[in-house]
Amino acid sequence: MTILDTGIKIVRNVGRFTFGQGAVSGVKDLVASRRTDDHKHAVFLIDDYFQKITDTASSLGALPGDSVQFVGTVDEPTTQGIDALVAKLHGSGHDKPATVVGFGGGITLDTAKAVSNLLTNGGRAADYQGWDLVRVAGVHKIGVPTISGTGSEATRTCVMTNLDTGLKLGMNSDFTVFDHVVLDPSLTKSVPRNQYFYTGMDAYIHCIEALAGSYRNAIGDAYSRETVNLCRKVFLGDDMMNDELRSDLMVASYLGGCAIATSYVGVVHPFSAALSVVFGLHHCVANCIVLNAMQDFYPGAHAEFRKMIEKQKVTLPKNVCANLTDQLRTDLIAATIKHEKPLTNALGENFRATLTDARIISLFEKM
Ligand SMILES: [Fe+2]
Repeated sequence: MTILDTGIKIVRNVGRFTFGQGAVSGVKDLVASRRTDDHKHAVFLIDDYFQKITDTASSLGALPGDSVQFVGTVDEPTTQGIDALVAKLHGSGHDKPATVVGFGGGITLDTAKAVSNLLTNGGRAADYQGWDLVRVAGVHKIGVPTISGTGSEATRTCVMTNLDTGLKLGMNSDFTVFDHVVLDPSLTKSVPRNQYFYTGMDAYIHCIEALAGSYRNAIGDAYSRETVNLCRKVFLGDDMMNDELRSDLMVASYLGGCAIATSYVGVVHPFSAALSVVFGLHHCVANCIVLNAMQDFYPGAHAEFRKMIEKQKVTLPKNVCANLTDQLRTDLIAATIKHEKPLTNALGENFRATLTDARIISLFEKM
């Protein structure tokens, strides 16, 4: 039994999905089909970017009496934030909705998954951080990604940080998987270029890490290889945001999500998580900053990443670890090495022989 023998062998895919330009117009009918006399109202969790587009909720089928909540994206989800949202739905009588619709990026989709589980399981979000702790199925849920890359639309987890304990861990459960996902590439047209690149690279990075690891799953590998192929086509293409490539990246994101459900990441994600915890950098930009410094561990992917970022004329934040204090060095090391599973997957159980304190800091200093 090694540290890598966990519930990861259990695989559950999304119940149904709809794909194509304009697919979002079908959400209305999906929501309507879930309404019954006992469950009249629906809950819509919408990325707050769309607050300025006033007809977003109604275009998704929201009716008077439904609950429409905008999900902030400045900070990634916290268990406390999820609990507050669930309490609000209880307070307004929306605790038994016909369906929960998540419309947005990874933060919003993960929020929808967590809220759906809590409405039927009770208790608090922190009670379910871990593997297979959710007892009963959540409320029916529909996921509509508006940016491609994190794969949240396909996975059986929803990442949350408990602000009291600092634990960043999702509800890994079959019940966390969306019942229906609607993939419409027209939704990613207005994403800012840098953000589109950083988020899309999350899919690429997950899969190059999985394919370089020791823990392997033949089906996961197939998903990973195709995800990497599609990301190459997108990010080495002339314009990563043309109609065809936005469609390809949406497929890559979905397949990448299926891939990580059966594999582990590697060295990039632990360093990236440390940048998020210590400096508050968002997951996807932090990943890119880390890969940019990972020539020693992933020489092929690093060279390819450099080509992609130059081809798409994307900029990366620089010198994010300038002027480290002793305390920051200690915090960065601790926040990196706590990710034992991916580090073991990449470097073996004795990963600290390779990743000494000095080596970890010299890598951060390159970022
Ligand atoms: Fe990731």
